[in-house]
Amino acid sequence: MKTIIEPFRIKSVEPIHLTTRPQRTEFLREAHYNLFAIPSERVMIDLLTDSGTGAMSSEQWAGIMRGDESYAGAPSWFRFRDVIRRVTGFGHILPTHQGRASERLLVEVMIGSNAGHGKIVPNNAHFDTTRANIEHSGAETIDLLTPEGRDPATEAPFKGNMDLEALEQLLSTRADDVPFVMLTVTCNSIGGQPVSLDNIRAVRAVCDRFHKPLILDACRFAENAWFIKQREAGQADRPIPEIVREMFDLCDGATISAKKDGLVNIGGVLLFRDDALAEKAGTLLILTEGFATYGGLAGRDLEAMAVGFQEVLREDYLRYRIRSTEYLGEQLTKAGVSIVRPAGGHAIYIDAADFCPHIPNKQFPGQALACGLYETGGIRSCEIGSVMMGEHTHMELVRLAIPRRTYTQSHIDYVIEVIIETKANAADLPGYRIIEQPPSLRHFTAKFEPVA
Ligand code: F0G
Repeated sequence: MKTIIEPFRIKSVEPIHLTTRPQRTEFLREAHYNLFAIPSERVMIDLLTDSGTGAMSSEQWAGIMRGDESYAGAPSWFRFRDVIRRVTGFGHILPTHQGRASERLLVEVMIGSNAGHGKIVPNNAHFDTTRANIEHSGAETIDLLTPEGRDPATEAPFKGNMDLEALEQLLSTRADDVPFVMLTVTCNSIGGQPVSLDNIRAVRAVCDRFHKPLILDACRFAENAWFIKQREAGQADRPIPEIVREMFDLCDGATISAKKDGLVNIGGVLLFRDDALAEKAGTLLILTEGFATYGGLAGRDLEAMAVGFQEVLREDYLRYRIRSTEYLGEQLTKAGVSIVRPAGGHAIYIDAADFCPHIPNKQFPGQALACGLYETGGIRSCEIGSVMMGEHTHMELVRLAIPRRTYTQSHIDYVIEVIIETKANAADLPGYRIIEQPPSLRHFTAKFEPVA
């Protein structure tokens, strides 16, 4: 059969509050045209993020009930530890409350707080919180994508790959300044694009030559492995767990936000092979997250993660997951909407500058499109352009991030219809100006008004 069905039935439902366009026009005005300020009950389809917004399975909910809340050595911890060991092969496992807590600990043990001055950390492309945590130590960050990775219009199977020559070049000139090398799978900043196994192996080889540790930002490790299985020569017949294991085996450490491929609403992991690093991070974990056997979480959260990290490896799940994102991308492309290509694993990124050619960048075409999608159909998306990145961006994008196991195909068909409708009336979308903003991370709280 050609139809790829959602490989689950729905046992518990959450109502969507249907709203009318006049209501949404008013809600938008009340929120000063900032979608972060809209209460989620006023959103019909929430594509703000795929992080922590997925649905848990009945087995995960069963795990929640089984959760043991003992302070030390709970069976929930041992179940969690054993699953993460089996999936990743790492010996040292530190539970944290989410990805950025893992990043903070990583930076503190591998760079040192306020000890980063003069240091530089390369990545294919840093996620915002990773970049912010590294820069908080005083160190610089650098993104080393290949030219095709930097070009949204180029179709290539592994646009998340690191530019090996650029890495060599950096390490040949500044080896002493590089505390570690990072790779983000899949690469969120450029549209959820995967990294090939071949590229991870090659980055490993360069790291070995310069004696540098390689750290994986593995939030979407299973989605990356699925792309490897589909697209990389010689990988089609390998089971997903084996590909995942090889990805981790090539690295010395990993930070994971379990809110993505851990299939949970809260949780994170920090992984190390080195005993000394793990011991140092373990001490800090107790200082700021919690005791070693629960970190920043409740026992029940560890149970849900233990189940989630196994369920995410199922091929029927990954086939449905990646196909539903690809389907959205396909239909939008067919309708003449320009998107970052190919479709990513967790999200579709619309080129807002192309969508609203009448709105100059200084009037925020991404904000205009995001507000337009909300007003037209109650869809919440996320501007990733001049509002979020200021002058650091060369792209005006709107991200439609797909929560895991949460929406059905008719929801996605509705999203497509709303986008097509918004496109038909794109010339009516106004540009925006900022009337109030905080000194940093302005996209969360800035207030806007339409430009007449
Ligand atoms: N690394 C990547 C690649 C991410 O996408 C995220 C989160 C993090 C690290 C941080 O994890 O949120 O658990 O602290 N990305 C979310 C998003 C927020 O919407 O893309 P966290």
